[in-house]
Parts: sequence; structure tokens; C-alpha cells
Amino acid sequence: MRVFVVGASGAIGTRLVPQLIARGHQVIGSSTSPRGADRVRALGGEPIVLDLLDAAAVRNAVLETKPDAIVHQATALANARFGRNFDRAFAPTNRLRTEGTDNLLAAAGEAGVSRFVAQSFASMRYARDGRPVKSEDDPLDPSPPASAREAHAAMRHLDQAVTDAGGIALRYGGFYGAPNDGLVEPVRKRQFPIVGDGGGVFSFIHLDDAAAATVLALEHDGPAIYNIVDDEPAPVREWLPVLASALGAKPPRRVPRWLARLIAGEFAVIIGTESNGASNAKAKRELGWTLRYPSWRQGFVAVYATLAASASEPRSPVPTKGAGPFANSTSEGAR
Ligand SMILES: NC(=O)c1ccc[n+]([C@@H]2O[C@H](COP(=O)([O-])OP(=O)(O)OC[C@H]3O[C@@H](n4cnc5c(N)ncnc54)[C@H](OP(=O)(O)O)[C@@H]3O)[C@@H](O)[C@H]2O)c1
Repeated sequence: MRVFVVGASGAIGTRLVPQLIARGHQVIGSSTSPRGADRVRALGGEPIVLDLLDAAAVRNAVLETKPDAIVHQATALANARFGRNFDRAFAPTNRLRTEGTDNLLAAAGEAGVSRFVAQSFASMRYARDGRPVKSEDDPLDPSPPASAREAHAAMRHLDQAVTDAGGIALRYGGFYGAPNDGLVEPVRKRQFPIVGDGGGVFSFIHLDDAAAATVLALEHDGPAIYNIVDDEPAPVREWLPVLASALGAKPPRRVPRWLARLIAGEFAVIIGTESNGASNAKAKRELGWTLRYPSWRQGFVAVYATLAASASEPRSPVPTKGAGPFANSTSEGAR
């Protein structure tokens, strides 16, 4: 197939392009800059520079390149600062998930492209009813935290629009697998604490496994929604100490709920204590997907062991980024 990957130069896109090519597909890969285009070319894709929010440009790109399938992996989180207001950090990504998705679906419809797979998110989205692991059929959170309402609405929009058009929405777990993963810096700096009992459940997915599921989804008929997460949804109190240890960082701090609310806001308390993870049973069953990293337990160690070694040297050569909502609190608090 000729596959048009929008967001081919990003965290997931750069894993996806080589896997598609290895599977015998031809890839047209978009980025927003010539630098990103160089990255796509180096991976074996045919580069194109495209702003997904420019409807006319999207239409032209799809009509001119004549793909058999389209994958939407565009997000704008690279320089996001996650403070108390989650929606502020997510605003550009929310637009890519609403307007961007609509632009791409309109172009796909006009060009007669029926295969369409798009990036969505699983963790923290389902109803907070005390059940920690959710399937795709479970209801989404009817009352998301105030500071994340727009992000939730944008993901709902994407899921609905894509499946209404016969496509597949992939609700990925939290990505890891790269030196600059979003959690690396906050965990190293002890800016990501265990809040309260640390009972909020997260689902993770290694980027290579996420890309593998995406390739399989492209070869599958929609409409459908799949949770693309690993086998072990786990509470913060379990996975965070393992991640800190894999990074060679000090153990995470513990903060009571009231203090977390004061420092970082209600959203941080909710994700730390009430969020839920997701089940991958449907994706395994229907896509025939198998995971190279079935659990973050092995995955964190496999990915971060070399980083931990380099961090103990005087200056780490690995650039990291991102900061959690606790970034302004001391990184050496009580434990
Ligand atoms: N499920 C998850 O946990 C999850 C989901 C998304 C991101 N993240 C994390 O967030 C961090 C940032 O990663 P990221 O890959 O999202 O970075 P990113 O720089 O936002 O890359 C995403 C892709 O979307 C493209 N893009 C951005 N704005 C666009 C626009 N207006 N139109 C068309 N394409 C556009 C980017 O192109 P350029 O390269 O040209 O900018 C890139 O190819 C990474 O650590 C990643 O793992 C996590």
C-alpha cells in the first residue's frame, strides 16, 4: 500500500515509517519543517512538509500523493510545559485532533481513501468508577477534571469522527522508549511524586510496540477502536519507583493529596489517585498483535539502563525535556 503518515517525524512516526517499509509498504511522510523532512527521507519515506491545520494544503497533498491509506500521528507536545492547566499545554494538540482530523478526513473522503488510522489515547480517559482496567466498550469519563476538559473533548471528537468515517482510532498508552520521553526529566528531578496512596492506574506502551500495532491496524477493516497498551496496567505506587530506579534516580517523593492539590492542582491529584488503565485484549485478539515489551517492568529497564549509566557521568549527552506540574516545588522534599 501507499501509506500517507501525517506526523512521520515525531516520536511514534519515526518508529512507524521503518516498520511500514519493512512490511513492504511505500510511505509518504509529513513533517512541518525541512529538518523533519530530512528525518523522513533518512528513514526511507517520501517526505512532504505539511501543516495539518491548513485545509487546502491537506487536500492538495492527499489528492496529489494518491495514498491507499492515511495515518494521523500529528501532535504538538514537543515543547509543551505541563503546569496546573493541562488544557493550555494541550491546546495546539487539541486543534490537531479536532480541526486537523476533520481536514484529513475530508481530504481522504474526496480522494476515496477508505483506510484511516489515527492516534488517540487510553489512560486516564475512562469513567472513574473504581474499576482500574477498562475495555474499549467502557464509558469514557463523563466529568473530566476541569483543567483537562478540552483535551478530553478533542480526543472524543477524534474517536468519533474517525470511526464515523469507517476508520480506526488507536487509544495508545503512555509512550516510552526514547531518551527524551516526557517522564524522564521530572522523575530524575523527583518532580513526579506518589500522591496519596498512589492508586491512580496508568497504562504504558513501548513506541516500537505501538508502531507494530499501527501497522496491523492499517491492514484491518474499520470502524474500530483499540486500546494499544501493554499487559500490565499498574498504579503509580508500583511503576514510579521502578522507573526512578531504571533511570538511576532517587526514589520518588510521597506527598499527601492536600499538598499535591495546593502545589499542582486537582488534575495532578486525580491522575495520581483515581485514573484508570486499559486492557489490550481486543487488539491482541482482532489484530493478532504481540508485544516485544509486554510490561513496563522489563521495558523501562531495557530502555533506560544505558541512560542511567550516562547520567552518572559529569554531563549527560542526552537531552531531556518536559516538566511535571510539580516542577516549581523543591526536588528534594521529605520522603
Ligand atoms: N501516548 C502518549 O503518551 C504520547 C502521545 C503523543 C506524544 N507523546 C510524547 O510527547 C513528546 C512529544 O512528541 P511528539 O512526537 O508528539 O512531538 P511532536 O514534535 O509533537 O511530533 C509529532 C508529529 O506531528 C507533527 N506535527 C506537529 N504539528 C503539526 C502540524 N501543525 N501539522 C502537521 N504535523 C504536525 C510533527 O512534525 P515536526 O517534527 O515537523 O514538528 C511530528 O511529525 C514525546 O516524548 C512523545 O513520546 C506521548
